Parts: sequence; structure tokens; C-alpha cells
Amino acid sequence: MKTAILVVPIVMWLAPGAAAQNTPQAQIEKGRIAVTAVCTGCHDTGILRIVEMRQKSVDEWRDTVYKMIGRGAHIMPDEIEPITMYLASVRRPQQPDAAGEGPAILARRCRQCHDVERATTLPAGQNWNTIVDRMMALGAALTPAERRALLAHLTTGSK
Ligand code: HEC
Ligand code: HEC
Repeated sequence: MKTAILVVPIVMWLAPGAAAQNTPQAQIEKGRIAVTAVCTGCHDTGILRIVEMRQKSVDEWRDTVYKMIGRGAHIMPDEIEPITMYLASVRRPQQPDAAGEGPAILARRCRQCHDVERATTLPAGQNWNTIVDRMMALGAALTPAERRALLAHLTTGSK
């Protein structure tokens, strides 16, 4: 009876910790820490930006890691896969979703003269660039950024 009471809390305490070590997220986090510690030694923090821009596949990053070991990078064998997974997981920073502002811009800049239905219906044979420029000539007060965002929105065909 006594042992049972003792064993249960220990098992509950160990299990989540053991599981967390093996999740892809935990591996990627381990890789992230190793990259910050190891790669910056030769490349400085500019390497993080390079990794963002390169977008290699898992296999290509694994090759790079081995190549860096060949150049003298101190990487433990059990860090190779986490580092590779981390490098392959890094995504380019996303551009802000410009097209997502489209409806707000339509409401702000177009709706005083006609409804959104009309303002988002492209007449046959025309293109949005020309129409938006014509509307600006008529008085739609779009900033350059709003013009870009609105065109992105209109050309995706959503309302
Ligand atoms: C001991 C120094 C050293 C360390 C540590 C090091 N590198 Fe390098 N790295 C180099 C040298 C030297 C080059 C240029 C020669 C070459 O391209 O192999 C290079 C080139 C690169 C390149 C460009 C070439 C390619 O194959 O794309 C990338 C990307 C890169 N390293 C990533 C990393 C990453 C990620 C790490 C950490 C896992 C790392 N490096 C750690 C020395 C190092
Ligand atoms: C100052 C008033 C005004 C504003 C603001 C305005 N429009 Fe217009 N719009 C008009 C007039 C007037 C017409 C009809 C004459 C024409 O087509 O040139 C028109 C026509 C249109 C048409 C139909 C074009 C065609 O060839 O049938 C579309 C599409 C359109 N506007 C979209 C927009 C959009 C998108 C905006 C916001 C960027 C906007 N408009 C802002 C006045 C305006």
C-alpha cells in the first residue's frame, strides 16, 4: 500500500519530461540552442539571417552540417539531427499580409462613391491597375502602400 502511494507520483512526474525530450519541437529547440552556440562561433549572428534566406531541404542542411564539422565546428553526434531539423524548420519571415487589408481600404477609400460590390467587380476586358489609377484620378485618395495592398486584394478575386 505504502509503495503504491509512493510510486504513482514519481511516474507522473517522470512521464511528461521523458515525452517532451522526444517531440519534434524539443529536438528543434535543442538544435536552435546548438546553432546559436556553435555556428555563430565562426559566422557571427549573421548566420541566422543566412539560414532564413537559404531555405535548403533537410538533406541539404544535413550535408551543410557535416561540411561544417569538416571545417572544424564542434558538434556532438547527437546534435546533428536536432541542428538539421532546426535549420530546415526556419521559415523566411513572412511579408505582412498586405491583401488582408483590402476590405478596410475599400471601406475607407472607395465606398463613398459606390458600394463594395461595384468597386470589386472587374468589368470584362479591363485590369485592376488601370481602374485603380482611374479611381485615383477621380478622387480615391490611396497612399502607395494602400494601392499595393488593394491591388493584391482585388487580384486575388475576394470581396
Ligand atoms: C569552425 C568554423 C565554422 C563553424 C563552427 C561553422 N561554420 Fe559554416 N562555414 C565555415 C566556413 C569556413 C565556410 C566557408 C567555406 C564553405 O563554404 O565550406 C562556411 C560556410 C557556411 C555556409 C555557406 C555554404 C553552404 O554550404 O551553404 C553555411 C550555410 C554555413 N556555413 C552554415 C553553418 C551552420 C548552420 C553552422 C552551425 C551548424 C556552421 N556553419 C558552423 C566555417 C564554420
Ligand atoms: C470620387 C468618387 C470615386 C471613388 C472614391 C472611387 N470611385 Fe470607382 N468609380 C467612380 C465613378 C464616377 C465611376 C464610373 C465612371 C468610370 O468608370 O470611370 C466608377 C467606376 C468604378 C468601377 C467600374 C469601372 C468600369 O469600367 O465599369 C470600378 C470597378 C471602381 N469604380 C472601383 C473603385 C475602387 C476599387 C475604388 C477605391 C480605390 C473606387 N472605385 C473609388 C467614382 C469613384
